[in-house]
Amino acid sequence: MKRNFNNVCITGSGNGIGKAISILLNKHGHNVACVDINLEDAKKTIYEFENKVARSVAISADISIISQIKKMIKEVVYSFGSLHIMINNAGVTRTSDIMKLNEQDWYWINNINSKGTFFCLQAAANQMKFQKTGGRIINMSSVGARGFVDVSNAIYAGSKGAIISLTKTAAQQLGKYNINVNAICPSPTYTEIVKKLIKTRSLEQNKSENEIMKHYMRDVPLGRFNQPEDIAEMALFLSSESSKNISGQSFNVDGGLIPS
Ligand SMILES: NC(=O)c1ccc[n+]([C@@H]2O[C@H](COP(=O)([O-])OP(=O)(O)OC[C@H]3O[C@@H](n4cnc5c(N)ncnc54)[C@H](O)[C@@H]3O)[C@@H](O)[C@H]2O)c1
Repeated sequence: MKRNFNNVCITGSGNGIGKAISILLNKHGHNVACVDINLEDAKKTIYEFENKVARSVAISADISIISQIKKMIKEVVYSFGSLHIMINNAGVTRTSDIMKLNEQDWYWINNINSKGTFFCLQAAANQMKFQKTGGRIINMSSVGARGFVDVSNAIYAGSKGAIISLTKTAAQQLGKYNINVNAICPSPTYTEIVKKLIKTRSLEQNKSENEIMKHYMRDVPLGRFNQPEDIAEMALFLSSESSKNISGQSFNVDGGLIPS
């Protein structure tokens, strides 16, 4: 896949989907800054990079804190000279019925998923505007924002819906700087978040974890459980020259679960 933009920053890249995206983009020759609240996990991702010619850096940042976001962007620019692709992947959730959610859950989830994504997008766009290079911003939403019936919880669904709306407006307002903004909406993907969700549902419903997974798969036409690498392929496409005229869109990667 052709690429013009080299320097990438990926939040939440110490595990799961962010880790898979980092590994794939490194393989394709990008310089990758792996950001995570847990620096050791970000470093572990970099140890797995196959392409040793492309540059990499592990950065510690909590994306719910604006001062840490600003420092993160400075560290990326210090390491690579510029920032071309920002992937706002970090996100959190826990499994809960709507009636059991509380204010603490609301702030925890929204501070990371909604506020963190917005201020990372804004800081990255500022840097791209200053460079006059244009760039790409990719936000991680979820099929939870599209009405997926087994979403982990309602606050999470709302936070991911906010990301889809943000993606549309940011694309409209940042297009003049040649910045494309898109979102990815994965269905359940086999990472730590989903392993915990399956465990909780299995205990709640007194069913085996296998039964819970089969339940998730019942409406998936392609019949495969998403792997982190499936999401990474979409992130690679949205980072490449091949997607240069695509902006403001949110793409499901879900085996056909929710046609849109
Ligand atoms: N796994 C799924 O089924 C699924 C489905 C749809 C959407 N998503 C979304 O994809 C993204 C990645 O999910 P995942 O399954 O890989 O999760 P994960 O829990 O495996 O990894 C998330 C990473 O984010 C980091 N992180 C958490 N809070 C952070 C913060 N405040 N600042 C910086 N880093 C932080 C964690 O340390 C972890 O390394 C999330 O936004 C999630 O909502 C996941």
